[in-house]
Amino acid sequence: MNKLHPLKINSRKLSWEDNQPHSLDYDDRFFQANVIDETQEVFITANNLKDRWQNLEKDNFKIAELGFGFGLNFLITAKFWHEHNLNNKKWLDYVSIDCFSLNIEDFKKIVKNYPLLKEYGDELVLNFPIECNGFTRIDFPKFKIRLTLIINNVDDALVSLVGNDNNKFDAWYFDGFDPSKNISMWSPNVFSNINLLSKENTTFGTYTAAGFVRRGLEENNFNVSKVKGFGNKRHRLQGVFSKKDKTTQLELTPKKVAIIGSGIAGTCLAYKLANQDISVDIFDKKKDLNLNPWAAMYPKFSLGLDPRSDLLVQGYLYAHRFYTKVLSGYKNTGILFLNNGEDRDSWIKRILKLDRDDLFVKLTADEINTQNKVSQDYDGIKINIGGCISIEELNKALMQHENINFISEQNFLSYKLQDGIKLEFDNGKTFNGYTHLVLCSGGSLQSLIPKIGLKHGAIAGFDNKLLKNIQYPINNNGYVLPECNGINWAGSIYSNDEMNTGDSINYQNIIEKNNHLLIDEDISHIKSRWIGTRASLPDYLPVTGAIEKEKVYALGGLGSRGLSLAPLLAETIMNEICNIPSPISQEVKEAISPLRFND
Ligand SMILES: Cc1cc2nc3c(=O)[nH]c(=O)nc-3n(C[C@H](O)[C@H](O)[C@H](O)COP(=O)(O)OP(=O)(O)OC[C@H]3O[C@@H](n4cnc5c(N)ncnc54)[C@H](O)[C@@H]3O)c2cc1C
Ligand SMILES: C[S@@+](CC[C@H](N)C(=O)[O-])C[C@H]1O[C@@H](n2cnc3c(N)ncnc32)[C@H](O)[C@@H]1O
Repeated sequence: MNKLHPLKINSRKLSWEDNQPHSLDYDDRFFQANVIDETQEVFITANNLKDRWQNLEKDNFKIAELGFGFGLNFLITAKFWHEHNLNNKKWLDYVSIDCFSLNIEDFKKIVKNYPLLKEYGDELVLNFPIECNGFTRIDFPKFKIRLTLIINNVDDALVSLVGNDNNKFDAWYFDGFDPSKNISMWSPNVFSNINLLSKENTTFGTYTAAGFVRRGLEENNFNVSKVKGFGNKRHRLQGVFSKKDKTTQLELTPKKVAIIGSGIAGTCLAYKLANQDISVDIFDKKKDLNLNPWAAMYPKFSLGLDPRSDLLVQGYLYAHRFYTKVLSGYKNTGILFLNNGEDRDSWIKRILKLDRDDLFVKLTADEINTQNKVSQDYDGIKINIGGCISIEELNKALMQHENINFISEQNFLSYKLQDGIKLEFDNGKTFNGYTHLVLCSGGSLQSLIPKIGLKHGAIAGFDNKLLKNIQYPINNNGYVLPECNGINWAGSIYSNDEMNTGDSINYQNIIEKNNHLLIDEDISHIKSRWIGTRASLPDYLPVTGAIEKEKVYALGGLGSRGLSLAPLLAETIMNEICNIPSPISQEVKEAISPLRFND
């Protein structure tokens, strides 16, 4: 199957009988009517999960499933995990692959048939992912479960996991339709990638007893048993991976993590680590952080079929879910792009070809003007999800966590790997005893990653009654944001020269970039200003990952998209440190590696 844009949805063909789906794509049923008993026997008991969970020494248990379907195995496992996870302390990581995304209406219809799963189904509906291809991470803190959904054909999905030791699983569910109807889920290629993603004592369960499946798994280091099948099936297979592997010894628990920089990257990461019960010291050279007072998420999705495109979509959707949960002030207003010229027109046409009426709405100039009580001439496209937040407010909300210790006015100089990690600051102070260090120091990362370039800039806050009814961010060459505390922020200036408060800055530039909404006289309506710096790389991708021996990491280069990228990238680093499967593909991970510019 050719790679699809992350937002181009491939829909299933289904027929229904008694609210149960039948696949017309594979001419097979998804599960039997007594699916709860079937899943218990074929996957949960076959993998000996009850005993293994009762004696679990690690912080998390990792299941991978081939064939997410409508998520019933997931819900049944979630229920079983929740009932057997002593003191609700450990986490279940459930990674599941399917070539079709999950449609909410289908899901609701099916889950209604199983009242026992209601609590878990309701929680999934509350956190329902916007349909997209590739990786989606959803957390269910109530049940201590992380679901990583990978919408892709099985071959590419497995490859996107290989190469990261955190993606070695404890148990497999092979649920890819009857092999006689769908050979693609049971190919030699699939078995050899399963081999690479398994470790000593990894187990599997499946309902099939096909001889070639048995041989395929045996050739890939599994000891396979043929046992009595479920219901009217004569046999099924289960087994254990036998090859010894050094990854089991590498699972170190992080104890104390230091973060340099308390911008959006550093605080998102601190919050995520703190929620894993890790103690975090976060340092900043400044006393008063002076963070962006009102910033918009930036959904200018790339239309390529490359890691950048994947990251922009996945980062954006993840950020939207994250802010919805952690920030009461976050409003999903949507974001508008005006059709202001040839380039924008061509981008809009390509976006509309994705056929996502749920996400993109074309608006006429009249509709835009009526909704926002403004007067301008362009039509445009509205992205239905996204909005504005105050980075300052987010910072406060995230830093409240009791596991986070904020240490201000400490200008970080260097680190040493001795007795854990030791930090040195320019005032002569040292701090030590850290298991991990993450550098989230924005522009200062340039000293370690010289390819980072800096663009300084400013935004201005206008008090203009003609802008008071703007309902969502409106992008032209610049942007104007809905009112916050009596002012409408507009942006933005880009400059190679450093800017300081008190410098004379050409705010006329912001008026020119927003000449559909602002006029020259608005210069006198500027009530507030904010100055900052953007750090970015020549390939317009951020940096996220280890820079030294899986102990020292960098997270930055977020350019103009700090809001859209920081939550997912912080999750990526947290997962890497805590031995959790990655929320992004290996392809994206390599594309954003801080080491990618090294010779
Ligand atoms: C004018 C302007 C408007 C913008 N508007 C938007 C917008 O609307 N939406 C959006 O998504 N993005 C916007 N951005 C971009 C956004 O601000 C950045 O992407 C974001 O700030 C990057 O976050 P960060 O945490 O990586 O770095 P930073 O915010 O730069 O934070 C780095 C922190 O590290 C600290 N630090 C640095 N060196 C040291 C050291 N040696 N020791 C200790 N501490 C140190 C700094 O004091 C700072 O607090 C805008 C940027 C500018 C300039
Ligand atoms: C039997 S169903 C899974 C049922 C599911 N476990 C549940 O609980 O609802 C098999 C699934 O495998 C998926 N599938 C089939 N071939 C695939 C392939 N080549 N790559 C990825 N997924 C595939 C189908 O879309 C289907 O959803």
